[in-house]
Amino acid sequence: MGVYGEQVLPRIIDVACGMKTTDPLRQRVCEGLAGDVVEIGFGSGLNVPFYPAGVTKVAAVEPADVGWKLAAKRLARTQVPVERSGLDGQSLPFADDSFDAALSTWTMCTIPDVAAALREVRRVLKPGGSLHFVEHGLAPDEPVRRWQHRLEPVQKRLFGGCHLTRPVVDLLTGAGFSITELDVFYEEKAPKFLAADSLGIAVSP
Ligand SMILES: C[S@@+](CC[C@H](N)C(=O)[O-])C[C@H]1O[C@@H](n2cnc3c(N)ncnc32)[C@H](O)[C@@H]1O
Repeated sequence: MGVYGEQVLPRIIDVACGMKTTDPLRQRVCEGLAGDVVEIGFGSGLNVPFYPAGVTKVAAVEPADVGWKLAAKRLARTQVPVERSGLDGQSLPFADDSFDAALSTWTMCTIPDVAAALREVRRVLKPGGSLHFVEHGLAPDEPVRRWQHRLEPVQKRLFGGCHLTRPVVDLLTGAGFSITELDVFYEEKAPKFLAADSLGIAVSP
């Protein structure tokens, strides 16, 4: 991946994704998580302060070693046991039906084969288990979509394969999830091409 991808990018993501404006969204997406949880694209642990008390343990799946190191200060302040348990959302090292819930925040944009990752999340979730998500993707408005298509090649090069035009809801339903809660909006104080978010809960039947 090179020095940029391994050393620099995880630090950029820590700062960019760690902006205080994302805190209310992290709070919302983590609400209701309970039991054993798998978090794909754990990054630098920016969701850790928002895990509810009902979470019994978190299996963190994250390829970037630097991201995991940056999470140490957040892990030191939580009561929830968190273990780095996997490196790739596309191939999860867990038995079928292992988890009560899953969490993904601004990660489906980056996983190369996101359909495979969603199949894996479904496999490891217990029947009726829920995936809590907040993801940026294809905007609801055509003018913004045009900019997303123009800018996507640069975005992918600079940000480790991050896509701007992934249709989040279609990907989830295509993987067999039923969406039970959904809010689609532009994040405040961010360029629209980057901030067309879908936040909600998808249930694995
Ligand atoms: C934009 S960051 C979001 C990080 C974190 N979820 C957050 O909300 O701050 C995308 C994350 O996905 C991770 N990632 C990339 N490829 C992945 C894969 N195949 N499986 C799991 N995570 C992956 C990246 O290393 C990065 O930490």
